[in-house]
Amino acid sequence: MDQARKDRIFALAKEQSQQQTLRFFDELSEEQQEHLSEQLEAVDFDMIRAAMTMENRAEKSLITPLKTLTVAEAEKDLGEYRAIGEKMLREGKVAALVLAGGQGSRLGFDGPKGTLNVGINRELYLFEILLGNMRENIRNAGNVRDLHFCVMTSDQNHQATVSFFEDHGYFGYPKEMIHFFRQDMAPALTHEGKILLEAKDSLSLAPNGNGGWFTSMQRCGLLDLLKKDGVEWINVVSVDNVLQNIADPVFLGATIAKECYAGAKVIAKVNPDERVGAICYRNGRPSVVEYSELTEEMRNAKNAEGEYLYNFGVTLNYLFHISETEEAAKNQLPIHRADKKIKCIDEAGNSVNPEAPNAYKLEYFIFDILEAFDDVLSMECIREHEFAPIKNREGADSLETARALLVARTGIAL
Ligand code: UTP
Repeated sequence: MDQARKDRIFALAKEQSQQQTLRFFDELSEEQQEHLSEQLEAVDFDMIRAAMTMENRAEKSLITPLKTLTVAEAEKDLGEYRAIGEKMLREGKVAALVLAGGQGSRLGFDGPKGTLNVGINRELYLFEILLGNMRENIRNAGNVRDLHFCVMTSDQNHQATVSFFEDHGYFGYPKEMIHFFRQDMAPALTHEGKILLEAKDSLSLAPNGNGGWFTSMQRCGLLDLLKKDGVEWINVVSVDNVLQNIADPVFLGATIAKECYAGAKVIAKVNPDERVGAICYRNGRPSVVEYSELTEEMRNAKNAEGEYLYNFGVTLNYLFHISETEEAAKNQLPIHRADKKIKCIDEAGNSVNPEAPNAYKLEYFIFDILEAFDDVLSMECIREHEFAPIKNREGADSLETARALLVARTGIAL
């Protein structure tokens, strides 16, 4: 590496008080030096500063209930909502975005989560199911054109995801309508705010959370491509729900009819103690309150009609109006800082496998984007029709429970 570039990298590390990242620099090959330098240049140092100085958000939040449009209430207007939504689908004004950059650590599957085979006697992959769910809505709307299908990956699973689609012929969907982009990465920090090294030539990096989708999509130019093609709305969904209803015309039509620029699909909780985030207002803005933030009293609080105030859990199926979200994205999202056990190397270059949390993992959460909207439509869907997530290796929300729910809903043989 030439001296001028090396000087610039060292100056950057010094300016950001992160000199420890270059501790082994002189031992590295030219290629490794370049790799480490590029990683350091890509770090969002503002995010680090904000994470280390932030206040405890939960303590400062006033949580109040947000009214949900229930299945029963929506019943009489379903025809109108469907007609509005299907027209938008036919005009190609909606795109889907599958958030597939997560690490899926609870499931522990070796590979991108979307490549998981849900079939038993045949191959039926998660990505294939999601694409199929969207195509069904397109077909029913009598579409004359296909919708854009975007997939957010991370540095860790990008290549494997792209190759998987290639190897499976894009499951018969037009290749030019499927777009992959990588989300940004965030560094793991010691409790003092210093970036950890994963190896002598690598920072310890992880995907920056599912709230990173908008800026990552903007930066890579994909958002412009969609806008140029007339797309107005994005349906953002998680990768791991086999019943995920993608480009649902009823949800889209209802959001438009209610004059909202964002929507969240929710399900009634099984009981007040179900561990899901619930839709709410936070300091007067639409948001989601995490299970851990709700006191027992709040979980059990009811209105005059005897209904729980925080009864509706989010399913990670959101609608966002693109140009309104561009405005919203100008606000800095809050950073969520989780104390975790993160493997790294120490000052002598030895591997460390910590037994207690040693570092902060930084993430943006998708639901924080809701706060930038004056109003968000919270719309209930029927749990058995639309919610069968695969999160854990066994027990609740596992491959086994999702298979059973998929068969019960669709009657297909696995
Ligand atoms: P989860 O919160 O379930 O996280 O993500 P995860 O990484 O998939 O699984 P665990 O917690 O490690 O077991 C919800 C959705 O958000 C996506 C996931 O891929 C999933 O679709 N996600 C999460 C991202 O796209 N990027 C991230 O950085 C985090």
